[in-house]
Order: sequence, then structure tokens, then C-alpha cells
Amino acid sequence: MIILGIETSCDETAICILETTGDKPENVKLKILSNQVLSQIALHRPFGGVFPMLAKREHNKALVPLFLKCLEEAGMGAGRDSRFKIQDSGNRNLETNIHNTETLTDQEMTHEIYSSVLQNTEIDKNREPEMWRDFFEKIPALEKPPIDLISVTAGPGLEPALWTGINFAKALAEFWQIPLLPVNHMEGHIFASLLNPKIENEDTKYYTLHAIHYPALALLVSGGHTELILTNKMFDYKLIGATRDDAVGEAFDKVARVLGLPYPGGPEISKLAKEWRQSKKTGTGIKLPRPMINSPDFDFSFSGLKTSVLYLVKKLPEITADIRAEICCEFENAIIETLITKVRRAVNEYGAETLIVGGGVASNNLLRVSLINLADELKIDLHISEISHSTDNALMIATAGVMRHISGNLAGDSNFRANGTLSLDA
Ligand code: KG4
Ligand code: ZN
Repeated sequence: MIILGIETSCDETAICILETTGDKPENVKLKILSNQVLSQIALHRPFGGVFPMLAKREHNKALVPLFLKCLEEAGMGAGRDSRFKIQDSGNRNLETNIHNTETLTDQEMTHEIYSSVLQNTEIDKNREPEMWRDFFEKIPALEKPPIDLISVTAGPGLEPALWTGINFAKALAEFWQIPLLPVNHMEGHIFASLLNPKIENEDTKYYTLHAIHYPALALLVSGGHTELILTNKMFDYKLIGATRDDAVGEAFDKVARVLGLPYPGGPEISKLAKEWRQSKKTGTGIKLPRPMINSPDFDFSFSGLKTSVLYLVKKLPEITADIRAEICCEFENAIIETLITKVRRAVNEYGAETLIVGGGVASNNLLRVSLINLADELKIDLHISEISHSTDNALMIATAGVMRHISGNLAGDSNFRANGTLSLDA
């Protein structure tokens, strides 16, 4: 089957087209036909974080052009690959809703299609004028692509941003009469971590899914989330710990701002920390707290750590390059030590046989190395997303959609709404 994934929960507009074979998690094969991510990082940088209404505006501008680019790359555009030619125009069902089509001019027909799609999906076109102008100029002119399922992020995330992807997906699904599936962004991060690359030869790279030995523990660390999730079977999630204030990625971003480093802070801090470690300089002996490291629960708190950095910086007469690097190193050590300590305890307490790690912060090198050592020490399986699949993308949303579809485990209905606080542990 062919599945289209759409992700707009934060500051990445992402679209993926996947071709899959197999009818169960054990035998599924996933081949990427196109996987595009358009990052808005440069636009949000002056704000030191993601500005939701700006994110929404950019998604609205980007979605239609990015979708057209994906279709081209997947061989489903104007010069369509012969294997993707289909007979059905796909618009027939829709046209039956429109009266007296024969008496309409082309312009009136376009208008009728436009109104019918927006009405059936309850979309208010005034909220996203650029997107609908683009949509009805470009999409009706296309031959229906052979997409069998659309999956789109329904939450968690920034609601204005989520709505753009959801409305775009609903309109495509309605226009071409394709089934639509809402996906939880965090489940997407979990599936991104389970992707197992296989390369048969140069141009046949595909993915299978790692088999999970249960119970498994998932550590999800991103700009919006820090969660420890226990899972005993696929699609069954129990939240055992979460941050009580800032998420890990958010702490990286805020500390970066305090230190005068650009957004997103994670990669910047990590780079300076690494240089400092490699320099072997002794430094000034800066020590930061490891918040809640000894608390008996599995919760986290990172806002105090950020405040400690803020006080430290205020006290210092000057932030030299060396001091900045030393702070970065100590901050990163504090974060990673806290995460690893809690994960070790959770694995032991729940007898987890597998550790799954995903989210933007999973691209942090020190975290990756520490997790590999931990998995080795505890003799458990570790599945951590490839660096390129750690930060937000639509491959993870398409993969989660495929897995739900083939497992017959479909969530929600077609009237779903954006849910900024959607939880895995329902
Ligand atoms: O998953 P993601 O792309 O978006 C959200 O869903 O939030 O995560 C983005 C977060 C940002 O806060 C960014 O600073 C952090 O991931 N991040 C990192 C690294 N790369 C990205 N944090 C630490 N070290 C990194 N190398
Ligand atoms: Zn994310």
C-alpha cells in the first residue's frame, strides 16, 4: 500500500510518501518514496523558540508546494511512473454531491468543488486563505495519486500548527476519497526508533521494524516532552514519568538563550560541551544540580537547572568563551546523568527488556553513547532513532499510520480535532 504522512505539530512542515508491503508488524517492509522536511528554524531563531502563529502561517504557505514536490519525487507527479498510473480519477464520489455539473462552466465547477470539499470537512477557508488558494489552484489539476491512506499528526503540539496539517489532510482525503487516520506525534517518535534499515543494493534501501521484547520502556525527549512510557504490547502505553515543568529540549533551548547561543539550543550546547571535554582544560569547577535525581518517582524537573545557569551567569563578571563552554559541558552532564539514572531505575523496577528512545534530544551524542553503555550494562535491547529521524519528520507519522492500519488498531474518527495535549496513555 501507499501511505502519505503529514506532520505540522511544531516548526517543521513535513510530508512523506511510503510504499509498504506486509500485513503484520513482523513482516512489514517500508520503502521511502519521498520524505521531505521543511524546517522553519531560521524564522523562529530571533524569538529564541517557536512562535505558534508564525509556525501556522509558514505551514500554510509550505504544505501544497511541499506536497507537490513529494509527489514528483515519488514518481506520482506530472511525469508519472507507469506503475503509478491508475484508472479512477477519484473525484467521482465528490462530483455526485454537486448538482447539474453539465451546465457549469469550468470556473463554476472549480468553485463548486471548492465549496463542497470545505463544507464536507467543516473547514473555514478564511483561517488559511493562502493554503486554500494554492490547494484549489493546484490539486484539482492533478491526476489522483495512488495513495491508499493518509495519516496526519493530531497532537500533541501547537494547536494552530496542528490544525494546518489536519485541515490539509482532511481536504485531500475528501477530494480524492482516501481514508484518513489521525496519529499521535509521540507514537510517531516511538515508531521512528523502531525503524531498522536494510540495504539490499544501492537503490533498494527499505526498513523493517525491530521486534520488541516486552516489557519495553520508551524514553521520549523533545522540545515539548520528556516522558517515560511503559509498554507491554503494541499500542498499549502507560505513562510512568514525565517532566513537571520544562521538557529536556526546552531546557537546552532556554539555557542556550541565557548563554547567547542561537535556537535550537541542543545542538549548539552539545557542540561546545564536546569541544570543552576534548580540550581537557581544568576550568573553574562549575557544578550544577541534578534535579530530582534521587526522587523515588520517575518524574523530571529541568526548570530549576535552567534557573541555576541563569543565576550563575548573572553572578559572573564576564562570560568568556571558556566559561560558556564549561557551563555547556556541566549542563549537558547534569541532564544526561539525570536521564540515565532515572531510566536505569525504571528498567530495573519494571523488568524492561527493551529501551526505545526517540524525539529531537535523542540526536544528542552524549545521550546516545550513555544509553548504549546503559543497555550494555543492563543487557537489554536498545532501539534509538537514527539521528536524521530523531527530530520531527513525517516518516514517523506515516510509519505509525501503517502500523495502526495493518494491526486494525485505528484511532479516532474522521471528525477528529487538533489536540495540543493528546496523551499516549489514554
Ligand atoms: O522532536 P523535536 O524535533 O521537536 C519537538 O517535538 O519538540 O525536538 C526538538 C528539540 C529542540 O528543543 C532541540 O534543542 C532539541 O530537540 N535537540 C537537541 C539536540 N538536537 C535537537 N537537544 C540536545 N542535543 C542535541 N544534539
Ligand atoms: Zn517531536
